Amino acid sequence: MEPISKLTPSQKPGFDVSTVRRDFPALSLKVHGKPLVYLDNAATTQKPQSVLDALSRYYTEECSNIHRGIHLLSERASQDYEEARLKVQRFLNANRPEEIIFVKGTTEAINLVAQSYGRTELRQGDEIIISAMEHHSNIVPWQMLCEQTGAVLRVIPITDTGELSFGGFGRLLNARTKFVAITHVSNALGSINPVKRIIEMAHEQGVPVLIDGAQAVPHQKIDVQALDCDFYAFSGHKLYGPTGIGILYGKTELLDKMPPYQGGGDMISSVTFEKTTYNKLPYKFEAGTPNIAGAIGLGAAIDYVMKVGQATISTYESKLLLHAISSLSEVALLRQIGTAKERAGVVSFTLGDIHPHDIGTILDREGIAIRTGHHCAQPVMARFKVPATCRASFSFYNTMEEVDALVSALERVKKVFH
Ligand SMILES: Cc1ncc(COP(=O)(O)O)c(C=O)c1O
Repeated sequence: MEPISKLTPSQKPGFDVSTVRRDFPALSLKVHGKPLVYLDNAATTQKPQSVLDALSRYYTEECSNIHRGIHLLSERASQDYEEARLKVQRFLNANRPEEIIFVKGTTEAINLVAQSYGRTELRQGDEIIISAMEHHSNIVPWQMLCEQTGAVLRVIPITDTGELSFGGFGRLLNARTKFVAITHVSNALGSINPVKRIIEMAHEQGVPVLIDGAQAVPHQKIDVQALDCDFYAFSGHKLYGPTGIGILYGKTELLDKMPPYQGGGDMISSVTFEKTTYNKLPYKFEAGTPNIAGAIGLGAAIDYVMKVGQATISTYESKLLLHAISSLSEVALLRQIGTAKERAGVVSFTLGDIHPHDIGTILDREGIAIRTGHHCAQPVMARFKVPATCRASFSFYNTMEEVDALVSALERVKKVFH
């Protein structure tokens, strides 16, 4: 059978998880002699063959630098790199390709905005609002900016179920607020935040909003124009693409005004020792040789996701998550951390007094890969008064049977400890 990546959507027989799984070579791996059950998708996803092929094709058939060469290989690579930008533009429904900046990942995208927009626009006493459920990469860049500018960080509290306190946000928003940076989906709790409403409320005060979409983009269709966000950041490797590539979307009028984040080749228009003028968007923000293979690989990942179908992915993953939530709630001593009504991709939990690392180690011996620890969200751990959690995170290539395997393995873990 042709891999699904080669089929047009109309040729596809509907969603069949076993067909999709065949497109991902890593899913046939054995770990400690057991079939791999990969439930660490919030950390990174496995890659379909079409992405591996796109990377290999770049390195074997068109390996060259972009934008500068007049030879054929360079022309091909430049074309494929720019084609990838167009794919991201369509994927996010951005207005223009210039609004798509290739960066290393979500982390670099947020640092870019903090250092370029933040350092020019924020002053002593200005306030930046984030939430208590942010990944460290949407906390630390803003703290660094506060140290540099004298701005102040304000934090929206979260409820016992792991939802943003809307009243809390309303109370924090005031005339001193100059920026809001919020995660779309929490990597530690799975909560989906009502970002459209947050953006509307911030815009009523004239405040720009950055959305950290690292955990949202793999699970739902994102339309940056419908959201009306000012910036949107995500990482390629969590969307079935390569590591070391990610996207910063920004509205043209903001990006245009922002100074470059890094200086070097490709981001200039002319250089003399007296004065350097900068290149136009998006190149102003892409100093040096970019991750060409990564961008092309991300383009292939987007093609793959679009062929499976984002609506299909969302529907299947919701069923998978519901199954996980309800079967895990049957496990005695298991406490789910984060029980928001709207959730995507993630179940975080503790099991009695067994340390999450011990649970993770035993599951690994059974071939089941989950994540244990603070998930780069230490304030979330503090909020729920736990040092760490176990986190199972799901993709459309996971099966109901894999969820059942997790549940049975947790019962065996309890027998080891009790
Ligand atoms: C919500 C969220 N934001 C940001 C990041 C950082 O992504 P990256 O390490 O790819 O830059 C992650 C990674 O786990 C995340 O889950």
